[in-house]
Amino acid sequence: MSRSIRGWVGGGVAIAGVLAFTLWNVAQPSAVIAADKPADKPVVEFSDDGKMKQPTGYRKWPFVGTPVTPNDMNGGDAPFPEFHIVYMDPDSFVHYEKTGEYRDGTVLVKELTSVGTKEATSGKGYFMGEYIGLEVSMKDAKRFKDEPGNWAYFSFGHKYPLKETATTAATASCNACHQANAKQDYVFTQYYPVLRAAAPKK
Ligand code: HEC
Repeated sequence: MSRSIRGWVGGGVAIAGVLAFTLWNVAQPSAVIAADKPADKPVVEFSDDGKMKQPTGYRKWPFVGTPVTPNDMNGGDAPFPEFHIVYMDPDSFVHYEKTGEYRDGTVLVKELTSVGTKEATSGKGYFMGEYIGLEVSMKDAKRFKDEPGNWAYFSFGHKYPLKETATTAATASCNACHQANAKQDYVFTQYYPVLRAAAPKK
């Protein structure tokens, strides 16, 4: 091969390489988004016998608030120990920003962590420890047509490993307290500053 031909071939390979890299880069963002959330993928899934499968990806959802019911203020055994990190599915959050309402299909996840330490360099207090539990609520007029307000409640347990699936909790054990005490549509909006700030001003 003459020197000039070798140079031409090398250049061609380099150009092809740049082109391929550019195409890969252009294709990449949409590929990532598609893999993250295919348009038809529901935010939570159910097994054929109607149990909710343990949700995934919710730690990237909008965060709405963190109530904390430490064991040491609840006789050593809080019903929901201890930090409650509450997230809302992204599309329902956008709807809430526009309307101030929980749309049909809203999913709220309450993830529990223990209190880790009570003292840090910032002072005395309650500092998050380990993940210990997971609860979910969902409003669905079709699936939960017999539940008050169409809200159903699921507990995946308060100890790792969590349950893979959860059955709809009895109305009396979860829904009834939410119905009686939650400020807005079975949801304890009064403890979620993010939602109160996001709602349209009246
Ligand atoms: C005695 C009252 C009571 C009962 C019973 C109850 N909850 Fe709640 N729940 C609350 C309160 C108060 C909050 C908000 C403050 C907090 O997290 O402590 C809440 C918040 C939640 C949230 C976050 C979304 C929201 O609606 O504010 C989920 C999810 C949840 N509870 C699931 C459950 C499940 C599952 C059960 C049944 C196993 C249950 N709850 C039973 C009082 C109750």
